[in-house]
Amino acid sequence: MKTKTLQGTKKIKPQDVKTIVDTFKEGGLVVFPTETVYGLGADGTNPKALKKIFKAKGRPGDNPLILHIARRDQLQGIVAEVSKEAEALMDAFWPGPLTLIFKRKATIPDEVTAGLDTVAVRMPSHKVAHEILDAVNRPIAAPSANISGRPSTTTYKRVYEDLNGLVDIIVDGGQADVGIESTVVDTTVTPPMVLRPGKITVEELDDVVPGMTIDETIISKDDGKVPKSPGQKYKHYAPRAEAYCFVGNVNNVIAHINKAIAEHGSEKIAVLATDETMDSYQGAYFLKSMGSRDHLETIAQNLFEYLRECDDEAVDIIFVEGFEMRGLGVSIMNRLLKACGGRVKFGL
Ligand code: TXA
Ligand code: MG
Repeated sequence: MKTKTLQGTKKIKPQDVKTIVDTFKEGGLVVFPTETVYGLGADGTNPKALKKIFKAKGRPGDNPLILHIARRDQLQGIVAEVSKEAEALMDAFWPGPLTLIFKRKATIPDEVTAGLDTVAVRMPSHKVAHEILDAVNRPIAAPSANISGRPSTTTYKRVYEDLNGLVDIIVDGGQADVGIESTVVDTTVTPPMVLRPGKITVEELDDVVPGMTIDETIISKDDGKVPKSPGQKYKHYAPRAEAYCFVGNVNNVIAHINKAIAEHGSEKIAVLATDETMDSYQGAYFLKSMGSRDHLETIAQNLFEYLRECDDEAVDIIFVEGFEMRGLGVSIMNRLLKACGGRVKFGL
């Protein structure tokens, strides 16, 4: 398939919106930018189009998709029930990087929900995403626009790398602001439960709905328990090289990583460090700061891109600094746990 690129960094041309709407209605695949990561979209009401998403990504069929909407009135056609906690969360965080799980309407295709009796819905705040979703006026199913298992894509270049030739259109929206995927919250249980941590932190959610819980399996090392969100059980976000994460007192982290570098002397080593620690490493082939430890937003924004840069450099092994399990640190560590396949050393 020949993939067409359309420009949509801050604005998108009306005729391009029309092309995208027509493509969705004909059952095609369109990659579009959102504020979190790029999404690989298809008409959420068309089972044939939905099947194409799974094929293009190589996604397991039992991993459900998020429906993206432009307006709250679209919920009526999708969900069977909205709790008062869900109302409060939507009031506070929509449009934005929060996905809510609801009881589904029977009419939602099984390809969206993977046969579950619930459905995930999100209203992105990205202007171009909003314009497209508003114009198509149907829920658009969109997982992250990457080959399954690889780090999610936050730039056009990375989308092209994974999906050129596999989709009809890629909308170039520049670099994604947030850099990690939306927070997923199950509102069918009381109190609601965080199934995937993201940009909106548990602390921020708890300010709106006190007593918020978190599925503990998503922030602990794999101990055989099954996470409640199907997508969390898969190997994910993984660079090609084996990655190891070190968490704890920063001086101890530096010492452990330098020791690990020395022990792997003959290999091509990447170190993903922070502004505060950059100058403390000796002997790495590829050394990059993810940002300041005082500004975890920057680290979240850079994380997936830098894991992919390690692949560009064809390194043999990656040592990455970890972060405290607080605020956005929880979401970053959730991604690192998966990117490292559980090879995380805590408590240094
Ligand atoms: O920021 C995001 O959420 C991005 C952008 C494109 O919107 N999308 C995204 O989609 O990350 P995806 O498919 O990569 O991740 C969706 C997650 C998966 O972990 C999936 O298992 C979970 O949401 N999910 C979807 N429907 C669910 C449901 N009914 N119950 C529990 N988890 C669900
Ligand atoms: Mg994904």
